[in-house]
Amino acid sequence: MRIALLGYGNAGRALAALIQKKRRAFPFRIVGIHTARHGTAYDSNGVALEPDFGPAARSVDEFLDRAASDVVVEITTLNPATGEPALSHIRAAFARRRHVVTANKGPIAHAYTALRSEAQRAGVAFRFESTVMDGAPIFNLVHKTLPGVKVRGFTGVLNSTCQVVIEAMRKGASMEDGIEAARRLGVTEADASYDIDGWDTAAKAAVLANVLMDARVTPLDIDRRGIGRLTPERMSELSKSRKTVALVCRGRTRPSGIRLRVRAEVLDDTDPLASIRGTSNLLFLHTDLMGTLGISEVSGGIEQTAFGLFSDLVDVAKLK
Ligand SMILES: NC(=O)c1ccc[n+]([C@@H]2O[C@H](COP(=O)([O-])OP(=O)(O)OC[C@H]3O[C@@H](n4cnc5c(N)ncnc54)[C@H](OP(=O)(O)O)[C@@H]3O)[C@@H](O)[C@H]2O)c1
Repeated sequence: MRIALLGYGNAGRALAALIQKKRRAFPFRIVGIHTARHGTAYDSNGVALEPDFGPAARSVDEFLDRAASDVVVEITTLNPATGEPALSHIRAAFARRRHVVTANKGPIAHAYTALRSEAQRAGVAFRFESTVMDGAPIFNLVHKTLPGVKVRGFTGVLNSTCQVVIEAMRKGASMEDGIEAARRLGVTEADASYDIDGWDTAAKAAVLANVLMDARVTPLDIDRRGIGRLTPERMSELSKSRKTVALVCRGRTRPSGIRLRVRAEVLDDTDPLASIRGTSNLLFLHTDLMGTLGISEVSGGIEQTAFGLFSDLVDVAKLK
């Protein structure tokens, strides 16, 4: 199966390494890579892990026309406020009847319902497992293993950067030092304020609500407050009374509609949500037939994001 990559940062490089590692069992080939500043690489026999980038294609349309692929993997930078340019990239792929796999939350958070219909009309697959909790199965779990189940709500601690920052502050470090520690782990968005101000979590909440609860919301509709006002002093005070803070997102179906909220919540140390440290994430799905179901990713990293993309590619390959 031929793959074109839009974006070759942390996630792109980890995916390329994983494809290389599993090439005997899964004959996937990356035939083109397009980036913002590094240029564009093409090779119908497979682009090297350290690509020899040439001049950048003048547009994504030009890139997609030249990189003849079966699937387009969209892994450019997140813009939680608009979903662009990823949204247009995905539409350009659909227009060429290419399957799309993405880890970019923006498009699903902004236009899931429209994109799902457009993919159906184009007769292609559209997969996005790694948009929330990397490769931990959430959408696959619900769609493939919970027939007839309705998701009524969710509660999640889903932003690794905030967890790393909060943990650093518990040890007396500053917000900036915490962000730097998260950056070294490769889990921070290009603009860390997206993590700290709760935008990344709001985008994930919008993805969960749109896909699992048929909401038609965007991150802008979510009642959002991040961890920007936290200080090491406040964290130290809280730990003395066996409390901590986590950036929690909550979604609920109410008679008036779906309520979505992102907040830095003060939690007892014994609360399961407070047990989430570092790059671990926890999501509870509240359902009609299965009660509450928890999915936890322990010490996730970029390899797990790559796995989420890879598992979607394996699914797409089965359709061919
Ligand atoms: N990192 C994670 O743990 C993780 C987890 C789940 C989901 N994601 C999502 O995966 C996506 C990629 O994350 P990342 O960590 O790999 O980001 P990254 O390291 O910042 O890489 C982004 C890549 O996108 C390219 N790019 C940006 N704008 C572009 C444009 N307009 N056209 C073409 N290429 C463009 C950049 O080009 P240059 O290299 O030339 O700058 C870079 O190669 C994001 O949407 C993120 O939210 C990441």
